[in-house]
Amino acid sequence: MLFNERCAHCHLENDLNLKPAPPDIRGALTRTALPDGAPATDLEVRRIVLNGKNKMPSFSGRFTEPQMEALLAFLHTS
Ligand code: HEC
Repeated sequence: MLFNERCAHCHLENDLNLKPAPPDIRGALTRTALPDGAPATDLEVRRIVLNGKNKMPSFSGRFTEPQMEALLAFLHTS
């Protein structure tokens, strides 16, 4: 599954030992706000995944639309 393959190594395992550690975003779209307080919407997560954010790289052009939808659907599950 895409989250496990592309996101979990940073967001759960922090294999690059980033400081501060990337937040746990599992279930992020079941809440009203993302960990940093931005609105927890599909649009905002798409924006972050496409643009990157600080130490998070951009995934622009990396995912097909069905893959992006599957990723968002996963973040809607708790
Ligand atoms: C190289 C490590 C790395 C990878 C890979 C990565 N991220 Fe991130 N991500 C980060 C870091 C670091 C932040 C925190 C950025 C900040 O706020 O400074 C972040 C932030 C986020 C946020 C915003 C959280 C918030 O509250 O601001 C979302 C959403 C997110 N990542 C989703 C994903 C998804 C989905 C994937 C997989 C497609 C992914 N990330 C892959 C490092 C990563």
